[in-house]
Formats: sequence, structure tokens, C-alpha cells
Amino acid sequence: MDITVLTSGKKDLFDRYLREYLEAEGTSSGIFEAFAYSLKAGGKRIRPVLTMLACECLGGKAEDTLPAGLAIEMIHTFSLIHDDLPALDNDDLRRGRPTCHAMFGEATAILAGDALIFQALSVIASAGYPAQTKLDILGFMAEVCGVKGLVQGEYRDVTAEGKEISMDEVRDIYRRKTARLFELCMFTGARVAGGAQEQIDPLVGFGTYLGLAFQAIDDILDVTSSREVLGKTTGKDLAQDKATIVKALGLQESRRWARDMTEKAVSLLPAADGARSKDLKRLALGMLERVA
Ligand code: FPP
Ligand code: MG
Repeated sequence: MDITVLTSGKKDLFDRYLREYLEAEGTSSGIFEAFAYSLKAGGKRIRPVLTMLACECLGGKAEDTLPAGLAIEMIHTFSLIHDDLPALDNDDLRRGRPTCHAMFGEATAILAGDALIFQALSVIASAGYPAQTKLDILGFMAEVCGVKGLVQGEYRDVTAEGKEISMDEVRDIYRRKTARLFELCMFTGARVAGGAQEQIDPLVGFGTYLGLAFQAIDDILDVTSSREVLGKTTGKDLAQDKATIVKALGLQESRRWARDMTEKAVSLLPAADGARSKDLKRLALGMLERVA
């Protein structure tokens, strides 16, 4: 299944919400321009879509997740702006366009990233969720991003360059730098739906395995795809001797591992009402086949 077909309705819903947010919030000049440029650059919007699907899986409404999905997309966008900076991965192309620092300069890109974190907090704080739901989402968000989460994953990713790497270490980097944000999407969607803890936990586990598979495929595509198709520089993991699954296992075993993680993810979906979780399953299986 082509995931762009599966996700297009929800992606459009999210993009419309983002446009309205930017129109209501902004001016078109200065730091706001860099902030909006990166948010509007698009991409697959996997994270907000996943948040919607998690909510629907527990009987909630996709629209209700929009503020939370926007906040998560802001955090993700921030992490990519900083990931692309010269001090980190030093990339000048993202989603087929110049990266934020290539377009606006390093100082502006750093500040646009900083702004995205705090706008994300503000979006959650002013959303119409019950106070405890907001607190739970913010708490989970802080945990997955912090010194044991995305920051730790990115730190290890950067400091492991040029070193021997075991698959255990690669898995740990993938979990922290990518899968934890997928966990946040699942937690948030399930929490907005009012799910009980015993319903939320397996969905968060789904996010872990899906995120691991997603990052593995990302690193496989860096080797097998092209700049034109991906909209970002390819072959750079090899050039920078990055800690990737392809380096640890080779291409064929990496594909097998990604499939294995996807199957583990799917096995955690609630069986009781297969109709509600079928889109999560289709998304997971479709992501294995993605070409960009
Ligand atoms: C892209 O990976 C980068 C990430 C998944 C995480 C980046 C994290 C940070 C900059 C730490 C700070 C973040 C937060 C939210 C506190 P990649 O370089 O393998 O993928 P790419 O090829 O798309 O650049
Ligand atoms: Mg990068």
C-alpha cells in the first residue's frame, strides 16, 4: 500500500490546520519567515497522521489531535533544523529545498529552532484538552526529547561517527533519536482519545517498533535512493562513516531487520477491534515499501 494514498486525507487536514495557525499567528518577516519556512516545507507529516490514527484506534476523533499533532511536528521540525546545522550533519538540502541555515544563515536557523520548541509548548498549553491531559502530554514530550531521549540519540549519532559500531548501539541510537518521538505520537493520540493505561502501553510499544523500522529504512534509502527522489543529500552516511544499521549489518540484513520490527509493531495493535487499528497496520506495512 502506498502510504501517501493512505495518509493524504489526514495530511491535508493537518496542512490546513497549520496554514490557519501560521496565518493567525504570524508576520511574514524576520525570524517568523524562517520559522514558517521550515514548518511549511512539508514532508510526509507522518507524526501528526500517526497521532490521529492512534486517537481513532481508541475511538477518538482525528480532528481533536490537531493541536497536539502540530506541537509534535514543531518539535520534529526543530530537531531537523538543528540536525542539518554545520556543527551536526551539515546538510544544505531538506525536502527538496535549501535547509533553514542554507536559506537564512546559521544564527537565524538556531533561533527559528529555539522558537519552535517554545511555540510547541504554547500550542499544547492553549489547547482545549483537560489540564491533566496537557500535563501528561507535556511530561511525555519533555522526557522523550531530553537528555535521555532525542538529545542523547543525536549526541551518540554525532559522536559515533568513524567508530566501530554494534547493532545494539545502533538500535539504541535509533530508539532515542527517532522512535521516542513516534512513541510520543502514539501516547498523545491515545491520551486525547481518553484511553486507559492498559490500552496506551501497547500503542506506545507500537510506536517504538515503528520508529526503529522507520529509521532503518531511512538509512537504507540513504544508500539505495537518490537526491532527486528523497529531496535530501544521499550517500552521506557512508561519506561521514555514520552509525547506521547498514554499516552494522549490511543492506540485506537491514531490510530483514526493518521487516522484523514492523511485524513486532503490528503484533502489538489491539486485536479486539481490528477495524479501528487497520489503518495503523496498513501504515506500518506501507512504510516498509516507502521510496522517499
Ligand atoms: C535526523 O536523523 C535527526 C533526528 C532524527 C534527531 C535530531 C535531534 C536533535 C537535533 C536533538 C535535539 C532535538 C530535540 C527535539 C530536543 P538523520 O540525520 O539520520 O536523518 P536525515 O538524513 O534526514 O538528516
Ligand atoms: Mg541528518
